[in-house]
Amino acid sequence: MDLEQRLEELLGVEKFEPPEELRAEANWSDPGIYEEAAADPEAWWLAQAKELLDWDVEPSQSLDDSNPPFYKWFADGRLNASAQCLDRHVEAGNGDRVAFHWRGEEGEERDLTYADLHRDVQRFANALKDLGVEKGDVVGIYLPMIPEVVVAMLACARIGAPHNVVFGGFSAEAVAERMDFSEAKALITVDGARRKGKTAPIKPQVDEHMANHHALEKIVVVRHTGIECPMSEGRDVFYDEAMAAADPECPAEPMEAEHPLYILYTSGSTAKPKGILHTTGGYMTGVTATHRYVFDLKPDSDVYWCAADVGWVTGHSYIVYGPLSNGATSVMWEGAPDYPHKGIWWEVVERYKATILYAAPTAIRTFIKWGADIPAEHDLSSLRLLGSVGEPINPKAWLWYREVIGGGRCPIVDTWWQTETGGIMISPLPGLTATKPGSATVPFPGVEASVVDERDGEPIEEGQGLLVLERPWPSMLRGLYKEDDRFIETYFSRFGNERYLVGDAARRDSDGYFWVIGRIDDVVNVSGHRLSTAEVESAIVAHPDVAEAAVIGESDEDTGQAICAFVTLRGGKDESEELVEGIRGTVAERIGKFARPKRIVWADDLPKTRSGKIMRRLLRDIAEGRALGDVTTLRDPDVMKELESKIAEEQAQEG
Ligand code: PRX
Repeated sequence: MDLEQRLEELLGVEKFEPPEELRAEANWSDPGIYEEAAADPEAWWLAQAKELLDWDVEPSQSLDDSNPPFYKWFADGRLNASAQCLDRHVEAGNGDRVAFHWRGEEGEERDLTYADLHRDVQRFANALKDLGVEKGDVVGIYLPMIPEVVVAMLACARIGAPHNVVFGGFSAEAVAERMDFSEAKALITVDGARRKGKTAPIKPQVDEHMANHHALEKIVVVRHTGIECPMSEGRDVFYDEAMAAADPECPAEPMEAEHPLYILYTSGSTAKPKGILHTTGGYMTGVTATHRYVFDLKPDSDVYWCAADVGWVTGHSYIVYGPLSNGATSVMWEGAPDYPHKGIWWEVVERYKATILYAAPTAIRTFIKWGADIPAEHDLSSLRLLGSVGEPINPKAWLWYREVIGGGRCPIVDTWWQTETGGIMISPLPGLTATKPGSATVPFPGVEASVVDERDGEPIEEGQGLLVLERPWPSMLRGLYKEDDRFIETYFSRFGNERYLVGDAARRDSDGYFWVIGRIDDVVNVSGHRLSTAEVESAIVAHPDVAEAAVIGESDEDTGQAICAFVTLRGGKDESEELVEGIRGTVAERIGKFARPKRIVWADDLPKTRSGKIMRRLLRDIAEGRALGDVTTLRDPDVMKELESKIAEEQAQEG
C-alpha cells in the first residue's frame, strides 16, 4: 500500500493507544496519577518539587495566593537552577555523561559533558562578576545555537542575574529595544552568525544600535565565525579572554525560590513586546516534571533532540533547563533544516541515535513537501517518541510524522503551552494517554484547564470557547517585567484573578479532550514564531512612503499562518515591486526577517469604524475568501468593495 493510501486509512482511526512496550516501562503508567494530583494539587506539586529537585533549603510552603494574581510557589525554599542542571549530576558521578552532542552547520562536532559545562559555567559566572554583574542585574543574550548560549544562561542563573535571551533571528534593533525595556547591564553576543553557508556580521550591527543604550555597560563577544569584529575599548571584551582571566571556581549561590531566573520577551496584542518573567523554584519544578513525564525520559539511555531555537521558550524549557535538570543527553543542532541538504535532520538522528524528537508542525509540513523519500534514506529506528509544539498540528501531518518518521511505532505527544506557562500544560503522557491526531489531549496532572463561554465564562463540557487555566501552577509567569497593570489587564481582567486567560480558542470533545484552534487576539503564529500584528504594523509605517497599514495573519499551508499587510501609501507614491521590497526590508530591519509580510495588498483606504478603529476581522474575511461579516459599523462600506476587487484582480493574475 502506498503512503497516501495508508494515511487515508489511518485518518479513520479515532484513537491510538500507547504501545504496550512503552506502557510497561513508562515513567508514569498508573492512571491514578491524575486523580491523586487533582485531589490536592498544591500538596502534589510540593511533593514533585521535593522529589525532582535538590533544594539547599527544602520548601515547606506550596502555593502562596495571598496577593492574587501575583502568586508565589515554594517561597521559603532555596536552590540554584545551575546547580540543579550541573552540580548535582557531577556530584552523583555523571560528569562524563554527554549533555550536548553539538553539531555545527558545516558538520563540526563537539560533545560537551556535564563536567565540561560545569567547568565553563563556573568560569563564565566569575567572568560576569568581574565585569560588574551582580545578583539581580539583567543580562542580555543574543547568540546563535552554539554551546556558549547554554553556558551564558546557566552562568547568569548561577549568580542570580536574570537573563534576557533574544532569538538570533531578531534584528539588532529589536535586540536594542529589548535591552532597553529590561535595563540590561551586559549583553553577550557573537562576532557573526552562520546561516546556510553564509556568515552574517552580528557585532557591528549590535554596535550600531547600542549607541543610545544607557544601562548597558558591557558587551561580551563570542568568537564563533572569526570574521572581523570592531571592539570598543573599556566596554567590549572577548568571551575567551574573559574566561581565561576568570577564576575557575564559583560555588552556586542558593537563591530564594522566587528569585527571577529570566525574562523572555514575547508578542502580545500591542506593538510593545511583553517581558514574561519566570522565577526559580516553581519553574524548575514544572520543566523538570513535564520533561521527565511527557517525554518519558530515561536519562541513562535516551538521546533527546529538541529542534527548536534556544531563543524561544521551547529552547529555554526543553533544550536547557528541563533536559539538563533531568541529566539528559541532548542533540543541539546549529543550522537550518535544508543545509547542507534536505535530509540533514535525519542524518543527525541517525548519527546520534536520537530516541526522542521534539519539533514544530511547520517543520513537519516542510518535510512532507520535500517527500518521504528523503527520511527513508536514513536509519530512524532509534526513535521511540515524537513531540510536537508551537501550533496546532493537522491530523494528516500528525499521521505522516507518525508513519514516516516514527515508523508507525512511536507515540506522538502534541504539547500545548506558551511562553507564559513556562512548561507544557496540555499533553498526552505517552504510557497512559490514548492520542487523537490533532488534539493535545488532556491537561498535565496538577493542571486544570477549561473551555468557557466567551460571554459569561461558563464552562463548556463539549464544544468551542475560550481556553482558560483554572488555577495557578508552579511554572507560571510571575508577571510582566515592570508592567504589573498590563499583567493583570492581559490575563486576569476578563474572568478574575483565579482564572488565567490563555488567548487561544479551543474545543472539547465528548471524551473531554482539548483541541486548540488558535489565537483569539492579534497575535499571529508564523512557523511557530509568535508575532503581534501591531508590532509588524508599526514597523511597516516606519517606511517613509507608507501612510497607514493593517496587518493580519492568514492561513498558510507551509507556515501555519502568514503575514498579510494592507498598506496605504502616502499621496503621490506609486505602488511598485520595489516598494514591496522596501517595506519588507524595513520590517526585517526593525523586527527580523521572519516577520516580513508574505503578501502586501495596496489599499487606497482601510475599513474603519466611525471611531477610526481598523476592522481587521473584515480584512481577514476578504484575505481568506470568506463572506464578509457585518459591515454596517463601517464609516465607509465602499472601502471593502474596492479591496475585494483588488484581491480578485490579484488572484486572477496569479491564477
Ligand atoms: O496559540 C498557541 C500556540 O502557540 C501559542 C504560544 O506561543 P509561544 O508563547 O510562542 O510558545 C510557543 C511554544 C510553547 C499558544 O497560545 N501553541 C503552542 N503549542 C500548541 C499551540 N497551538 C496548538 N497546539 C499546540 N501544541
